Amino acid sequence: MKRYVILALAMAGSAAIAHSDVKDPNVQKRMAGMKDMAAQMKTLGAMSKGKSAFDASAANAALAVISTQAARIPALFEIKADDPQSEALPRIWADHDTFTNHARRLNEAAETLTGTVQQKSELGRAVKQLGRACRSCHETFKD
Ligand code: HEC
Repeated sequence: MKRYVILALAMAGSAAIAHSDVKDPNVQKRMAGMKDMAAQMKTLGAMSKGKSAFDASAANAALAVISTQAARIPALFEIKADDPQSEALPRIWADHDTFTNHARRLNEAAETLTGTVQQKSELGRAVKQLGRACRSCHETFKD
C-alpha cells in the first residue's frame, strides 16, 4: 500500500515543479486533470495512513472526483497536442482504444467505490486498486 501513496505524492510534487510553463492549452488541460486525480489520491492516502483524520464524506468525494476526471481522459487526449514538457507517448494516438480502456477501467473502479467507503480500514484497498489503474496506463502511455 505504502508505495502507492508515495507514488501519488511523488507524482503530485514533481508535476507542480516540472510542468509549470507548459504553453499548449490542450496539454495544460490534460495535465490539470491528472494533477487533480493525484491530489485526490494524496487525500485518500493520507487518511488511509492515519496522517489525516478519516472523514467518510471527504473520502467518497475524492473518489467521485477521480471518477469524473477519469471519464474526461479520452476527450482530453483526443487531440494529439504536444509540448516539450509533455510525457504523453505517441502510442496514445496509435492505440487509442487501449488507452481509452485504461481510462474506462479507472472510471469504473472509482465510480464503484464512490459512496461505499464507511471506515478507514476500507481505504487501503481502494487506494491500492486505483493506484494500480493509474500505473497500468502510465506504464504504457506515459514517458
Ligand atoms: C488512460 C491513461 C491514464 C490513466 C488511467 C492515468 N493517467 Fe496520469 N497520465 C497519463 C498520461 C498520458 C500522462 C502524461 C500527460 C502529458 O504529459 O501530456 C499522465 C500524467 C500524469 C501526471 C503528471 C501531470 C503533469 O502535470 O505533468 C500525474 C500527476 C498523473 N498522471 C497522475 C495520475 C493518477 C493519480 C492517476 C490515477 C488516479 C492517473 N494519472 C491515471 C495517462 C493516464
